[in-house]
Amino acid sequence: MGIKTAVITGANSGLGLATAKALAQRSFDLVLVCRNADRGKQAQTSVQQANPAVKVDLFLADLADAESVRQVAKAICSAYPKIDVLINNAGYTPKSIEFVEEGVEKSFFASHVGHFILTNGLMDSLKAAGAATGDARVISLSSAAYIGGRTARFFRKLDNLSPMLAYCDDKLANLLFAKELAKQTAGTGITAYSAHPGAVRTNFGSDTLGFVGQALALARPFMRTPEKGAQTSVFLASAPLKSIGASNNGGYFADSAPKRTRNRDITDEKAAWLWERTRQYL
Ligand SMILES: NC(=O)c1ccc[n+]([C@@H]2O[C@H](COP(=O)([O-])OP(=O)(O)OC[C@H]3O[C@@H](n4cnc5c(N)ncnc54)[C@H](OP(=O)(O)O)[C@@H]3O)[C@@H](O)[C@H]2O)c1
Repeated sequence: MGIKTAVITGANSGLGLATAKALAQRSFDLVLVCRNADRGKQAQTSVQQANPAVKVDLFLADLADAESVRQVAKAICSAYPKIDVLINNAGYTPKSIEFVEEGVEKSFFASHVGHFILTNGLMDSLKAAGAATGDARVISLSSAAYIGGRTARFFRKLDNLSPMLAYCDDKLANLLFAKELAKQTAGTGITAYSAHPGAVRTNFGSDTLGFVGQALALARPFMRTPEKGAQTSVFLASAPLKSIGASNNGGYFADSAPKRTRNRDITDEKAAWLWERTRQYL
């Protein structure tokens, strides 16, 4: 048995897998949330190899499917009445634009709405850890791409939306979600953060088409390893709260340090609006 329990989405690949292994080595029990059973089982084996002394569990869910996320949250909550850390890590650049229910772009649904449902579904277990130790944390993987995001595009079926702008919107939503989550959970022992991992050599963008895909392919040799890219997530999950800083609750981090944000859509009002707008999916 480990010292704490961490739940990680998209844990079978890239940053999620590297983060899970690093936390296993720090004696965390891990709950891996993956969408594919074979890839999930392979990840479970390799995380277990990183530390045979901890428990490594696997749950399956597709974050683009609200009902699948509600079910997995229920199952995880009943198996884990206390959850110390949730890392909302899964995300991707869409190859092409596809809208799911009510005109919500699919990568936005998976990255923002899916994680919103999951976080709220796990809230009782997060609160139980917060009440017991005064320290439960929710970390959402954002990206420096948040700079190109615009809240005016959220929840709208736009004919001219490009995959790159859709991704920027996803990452802005992840950042705003962490900002508002810190407020919503004030006084519960839960803190929330968003993180940029740097440019990391993972499966990320490997099927991106056109100029952006070519640029990513050319840049790959110069990118960080997943282990290096995972460092900010690992820091936010495992460093003493004191070294993260109480005033940084709700903040955006890169290279294991708080960073100022540059986007006029990052306001308390817009973060609160996004929270209210997304509640309908619970
Ligand atoms: N790599 C970078 O340079 C970089 C930079 C900034 C931010 N990020 C962020 O870091 C996070 C992790 O990305 P990565 O670089 O590690 O990419 P990755 O290797 O492609 O991993 C993405 C993970 O998300 C999972 N996923 C995607 N859609 C899902 C869905 N609908 N339901 C459940 N799981 C889903 C994938 O599962 P499958 O294996 O089944 O597809 C995979 O496990 C993302 O949020 C990304 O935006 C990455």
